[in-house]
Amino acid sequence: MHEPVMVTEVLEHLAPARGGLFVDCTVGGGGHARAILETGATRLIGLDRDPDALAQAEAALEPFGSRAELVHSDYRRIDEVLDARGVASVDGLLADLGVSSMQLEAPGRGFSFRRDEPLDMRMDRTTGATAAEAIEHADERTLADVIYEFGEERYARRIARAITEARSAGGVRTTGQLADLVRRAIPRRGPSRIDPATRTFQAIRIWVNRELEGLDAFLAQAARRLAPGGRMVVITFHSLEDRIVKHTLRSLQAGGDVGLTIRTKRPAVPSEAEIERNPRARSAKLRAAERQR
Ligand SMILES: C[S@@+](CC[C@H](N)C(=O)[O-])C[C@H]1O[C@@H](n2cnc3c(N)ncnc32)[C@H](O)[C@@H]1O
Repeated sequence: MHEPVMVTEVLEHLAPARGGLFVDCTVGGGGHARAILETGATRLIGLDRDPDALAQAEAALEPFGSRAELVHSDYRRIDEVLDARGVASVDGLLADLGVSSMQLEAPGRGFSFRRDEPLDMRMDRTTGATAAEAIEHADERTLADVIYEFGEERYARRIARAITEARSAGGVRTTGQLADLVRRAIPRRGPSRIDPATRTFQAIRIWVNRELEGLDAFLAQAARRLAPGGRMVVITFHSLEDRIVKHTLRSLQAGGDVGLTIRTKRPAVPSEAEIERNPRARSAKLRAAERQR
């Protein structure tokens, strides 16, 4: 079972014991959603772009009956989802961004270089190009930019060159092919804690799922949907995302029109004990804000 990250901190900032309507914009396996409902939220709407995640959330939230509603949607369409339900404002909102460990670990999703399978990587397999298709159609320059920007990979150019060469020799169709090609393209240094393919896999995943696109606009929409005294919590797992969240919350606070106050001067991070228990939590950063009363 997927263990939700920083649950204590999420509940402290969202304060669902107040009751009211909460939106989990990235419901995943439903771990946070369950905690929010158990703590006193009257009603919860859970969104996810991944139908497999929604099936898991449905099972996890079954005990709450009609208090929980699950919706297959991208969180960037939150306005549409709330409008369609006649919801003007919400009491709390959570976004636990990125991929879930379920997605990374489930066979057949093509996110992980730990097994060789078709290179898919789409969170929503009902739409869009797979990673293999995206790679097939991108030019070398685009690939280099993606790997450099989203993977913060210094050998991005070499890797992009290796990908284009492999493409003319039959394509990059599987996770194993991509991982081998990256490992060969990068000069060997001493022993490293992480696999050299990690950064490139992160980059391609962010690109294929357009993870950073519109994140700022989503946060602004979300903030505007908060009722007076409503709270929002955002958890990120890498610095590119955290930077966008930090700047967007700051500019919403500074703009003054939304009346948003940041509750976390610095991002909250998981305790040592949590990291020990759940190593995936290691890179988590949590930021929270409240709409003025
Ligand atoms: C880190 S997991 C969330 C785990 C969840 N908090 C839990 O307790 O199980 C992130 C989830 O967000 C979903 N997701 C990522 N980007 C999304 C988007 N733009 N719109 C909706 N869901 C998205 C992913 O499919 C994944 O299930």
